[in-house]
Amino acid sequence: MTTADHAPKILVIDDDDDLRYSLKRVLSGRNYQVLEAASGEEGLEMAQKHKVQVILLDNRMKGMSGMEALQHLRGINPNAMIILMTAYGTTQTTIEAMKFGAFDYIMKPFDLKKILALTESALSASNDLDRANTKGGEQAVSQEDIEGGIIGSSAAMQAVFKMIGQVAASDVTVMVTGESGTGKELIARAIYQNSLRSQKPYIAVNCAAIPENLIESELFGHEKGSFTGATSQRIGKFELCDTGTIFLDEIGDMALSTQTKILRALQEGEIQRVGSSDTIKVNVRMLAATNKPLEEMVKEKTFREDLYYRLNVVRIELPALRERMDDVPQLIDFMLKRLARDSKADTKSISPEALALLSKYAWPGNVRELENLIYRSAVMAQGETILIKDLPQEVIRAVGANPLPAEMASQSQVSAEDDTNVVNEQTELQADAELNTAVVGAPTSNHFDVAYDQLRADVGTNILEHMEREMIARALEESGGKQVKAAEIVGMTRATLRKRIDQYDLGK
Ligand SMILES: Nc1ncnc2c1ncn2[C@@H]1O[C@H](COP(=O)(O)OP(=O)(O)OP(=O)(O)O)[C@@H](O)[C@H]1O
Ligand SMILES: [Mg+2]
Repeated sequence: MTTADHAPKILVIDDDDDLRYSLKRVLSGRNYQVLEAASGEEGLEMAQKHKVQVILLDNRMKGMSGMEALQHLRGINPNAMIILMTAYGTTQTTIEAMKFGAFDYIMKPFDLKKILALTESALSASNDLDRANTKGGEQAVSQEDIEGGIIGSSAAMQAVFKMIGQVAASDVTVMVTGESGTGKELIARAIYQNSLRSQKPYIAVNCAAIPENLIESELFGHEKGSFTGATSQRIGKFELCDTGTIFLDEIGDMALSTQTKILRALQEGEIQRVGSSDTIKVNVRMLAATNKPLEEMVKEKTFREDLYYRLNVVRIELPALRERMDDVPQLIDFMLKRLARDSKADTKSISPEALALLSKYAWPGNVRELENLIYRSAVMAQGETILIKDLPQEVIRAVGANPLPAEMASQSQVSAEDDTNVVNEQTELQADAELNTAVVGAPTSNHFDVAYDQLRADVGTNILEHMEREMIARALEESGGKQVKAAEIVGMTRATLRKRIDQYDLGK
């Protein structure tokens, strides 16, 4: 294919030859002119020589990292749209990439269609280029990163991280909203930690926790004798926080009179201590959060409309956990590791079955609920692995699963008398019949849905055999090798059990 000289130029910087090759193939197919570089250093050279519109940049390369290259590339050609490709998305990478002026960010492995679409939108952005108000990439983040653990690879969370990167460096007021337990506090802190004010004070005020008659003094301070109990002068949070960032949490729970004062601080940049007529200039950046429906409150006149618009300059809406269930495994992994670190114990794991069950739960309390559940279950688990039986009954019931595998076996209709139905001779028909009694005959089928999906994914076919072998092995383990007991647990006669032990080679 010939590529005309005016064809858009795309530079691929990646040390993975195969990936460069595939990208080149698909992009050339679109009549783009593709340039390749196998390292960050080489990429910078190419970017100096050629006027490229789009750069696909790998983050993890030998030598200069993608993030480093990104900053240089922005200097060399501020108009090039850079898409950062990285093997796994830590929060910080996304935030930083956006801060340093990347156009977008994609996680490997990606599908080529996706990168093509992204490249196209980068190209069109580059065509009607107006980056006058590009977010500056001037300030490097302090290395005490925010890794304070914000987990989220889901598209919804990635969008949140991008937004943090975009707003952090300006002094714009940000309102973080979302259901309880979605991580609003965490996000507010991340904005601060990535801001130009990160070395300045950060004060979080929980507006719901401070009684109405005290909040004003808390925020703005008071003079000695200004009210009963004001035995000395007090400096308020706004003053303490001068040049820094103040986070007003649970802002929907603030009295109207306090709202008026906050508005003034926001609008005029000045405050008055209670009992004083002097105004004090303060320079604070405000972040706010609430799980209350502020729009409705504005309609009902319980929240000032002017303050609402003032705070709601940029809005970051956090998704509920049920809207980003693909993050659940990663969150659990993170929580288990943190728990192990904090309790100086070995990291526990979670069984695929328990994980599958948790992936069906709706999480009304969001990440906080998940966190509490994992801590509780880890305590309940006797071994190294959290099993379904260690999960809270409410959760098991809520997803409609059957609590215990042992119960599952005894409740199924498989008769102990069908001793002669030798499994290794079983026809498909028999398999169907057994499946039916086991699944349809059980009080709830969700437990089986979970098990079935999991086995299909892990084992592929012959799942009954696999499950039977597994169940018998576990029963033997539980019974300490006593066959009578094991037979009782799985619901077989001892003779059948013995056959199976031979068949599955469980007799050690
Ligand atoms: N993305 C996340 N990754 C890791 N932990 C998270 C995440 N989101 C929330 N958490 C954890 O969940 C808990 C609740 O988060 P946070 O306190 O920020 O919620 P919130 O939205 O402020 O809730 P509320 O409205 O009830 O105040 C915290 O312990 C926090 O560390
Ligand atoms: Mg909160």
